[in-house]
Amino acid sequence: MPDFLSTTTHLHITTWVVALILFFVAAGMNKASKGRKISHMILRLFYIFIIISGVALFITAMDFGQGMLYGFKLLFGLGVIAFMEMTLVRGAKGKSTTAMWIGFIVCLIAVLGLGFHLPLGIKLF
Ligand code: HEM
Repeated sequence: MPDFLSTTTHLHITTWVVALILFFVAAGMNKASKGRKISHMILRLFYIFIIISGVALFITAMDFGQGMLYGFKLLFGLGVIAFMEMTLVRGAKGKSTTAMWIGFIVCLIAVLGLGFHLPLGIKLF
């Protein structure tokens, strides 16, 4: 694999692993705590890193002839981000977050499945 793709895939993996950790940390903290607000702020910065590295991979992958699967990868990836954000915002307001957690888990399973199936980086199945 060319260096650019290998580096970008690893960068992409790093960004979403950090984001998931920040999300769980923030979600586990007390609603009103400063720590939760700070973790959420850093998490938002990581959304941008995930999207930049994901789009870079996406553009290259458009030559692979698997456009539809890549389209779903992008949508579910954005879905994971949207549900993390809604879980934290609704949680902070004291609203119910059950549906948001379900959306998060569904999108996460889909995106991990697609990511590790598609040809770049690690191909598990
Ligand atoms: C939190 C959200 C996300 C998670 C958990 C995630 C997860 C993954 C995983 C597991 C891989 C496979 C890495 C590998 O095979 O080495 C991957 C690759 C990729 N991701 Fe994401 N991703 C997310 C968001 C995004 C977004 C928003 C985009 C598009 C804008 C995107 C586009 C891609 C592309 C194009 C690939 C290359 C797929 C391949 O051929 O292997 N991802 N991602």
